Amino acid sequence: MSMNIKRPNGTEDVIPKNVHKWHTVEKITKDIAESYGFCEIRMPTFENTELFMRSVGETTDVVQKEMYTVKAKESEFTLRPEGTAGAIRAMLQNGLLNEALPQRVYYILSCFRHERPQAGRLREFHQFGIEMAGSLSPLADSEVISLANAILKRLGLKNIELYINSIGCPNCRAKYHEALRTYFESRKDELCETCQGRLVKNPMRILDCKSKICQEIGKDAPVILDYLCEECRNHFENLKKHLTNLSIEYKVNPKIVRGLDYYTKTVFEFVTTEIGAQGTVCGGGRYDGLIEELGGQHTPALGFAMGIERLLLLMDKQNCDYLVPKKCDIYFATIGDAALEKAVKLSVNLREYGYFAEYDVMNRGLKAQMKYANKIGAAFTVVLGDNELKSGNAKIKEMTKGEETEIRLNDKFVDSFEEVYFNNILSVIDDTEVNE
Ligand code: HAM
Repeated sequence: MSMNIKRPNGTEDVIPKNVHKWHTVEKITKDIAESYGFCEIRMPTFENTELFMRSVGETTDVVQKEMYTVKAKESEFTLRPEGTAGAIRAMLQNGLLNEALPQRVYYILSCFRHERPQAGRLREFHQFGIEMAGSLSPLADSEVISLANAILKRLGLKNIELYINSIGCPNCRAKYHEALRTYFESRKDELCETCQGRLVKNPMRILDCKSKICQEIGKDAPVILDYLCEECRNHFENLKKHLTNLSIEYKVNPKIVRGLDYYTKTVFEFVTTEIGAQGTVCGGGRYDGLIEELGGQHTPALGFAMGIERLLLLMDKQNCDYLVPKKCDIYFATIGDAALEKAVKLSVNLREYGYFAEYDVMNRGLKAQMKYANKIGAAFTVVLGDNELKSGNAKIKEMTKGEETEIRLNDKFVDSFEEVYFNNILSVIDDTEVNE
């Protein structure tokens, strides 16, 4: 019978042979975030729809076109399209912002956006993200950017450009919106229907529209940097100084407006040209008004998120190193029921000490068991039969060199195994030195 049910369009399976790639990204992102003082936070996969309307913004593509919303009885929920809104909601709900500031959290989570799938653009994708709440200082901006930069470096990625911009505060934004309205008014009829509405409510969103025509019309639009108030301009200048001090290269790109409404002042993106059109591997910025908008006290905050699938596309492309997947340390090939029972017991002992041990659960003959041990790349094999059980000794075979040694099948088998295991590692080191 053929399998007709396929995974939904725009989703991906991570099969066992690839999962070490995910583990690599998860480990490196977590380790580096923790070294910057960030702690993990976990939130529900779905939230009240209103949370995203109020944070991501009603005129954004994400809210207008891409949310997966379900009505359940009287309530309406949305699968999170991003992590910031939920993280801030959780910080508020759990009183984290009443504790020592700044609060620093990180997360690894799945997000859902109903976009047109293509390489690097999925409907279910995964983000590693961080949020830092409490600091107004541009030093916090450079710290967050340097954290992202450190992760990309540790992953081994190259040829990624950092673009920064400032999109000002509500004060400078008012004047800028007027300038944009004046600019777009003359070509209003050519804009897509959504952008015609945005022209009235939030003209900056037109600059982020995915429609070709709107993008073309927006090319010569005024840029926000020319409209920044003194405070925002100083903040931006100081950020640039701090980045230079950290030797982080950047380019100012006045066209970056980001696709979410909560941003104020600094916005930034890390972009590659090596994985096609969806080259933004990390995006973030400040959102000084969001916490207040969600019912908290005025608390400046900022953060970023990286798309894990995009990081992996680039890591594959650039042949980056991944953590080595764990392989079978020892395989027991058995002849007869008594030997199999012994193998089960020895395996339990080894596994208690963290070793990866396997024995036959397929009722295979000896030859087929050895073939299987080869296939899974077992480091050592032990053949157990009546003779071995009687003598209490067996032969353990190191599979790459084919060398065999005697091993005692005592109660604490792990001690005997470790002796062979570490001797083997030492001999590998010796061999390497001789070859050098
Ligand atoms: P975002 O730019 O919407 O920002 O998404 C962040 C990253 O998620 C993108 O740079 C990209 O790598 C990845 N991404 C977004 N959409 C998709 C998709 N459909 N398929 C694959 N990857 C995707 C945010 O989500 C903000 N919450 C970031 C932030 C945190 N700002 C402040 N704090």
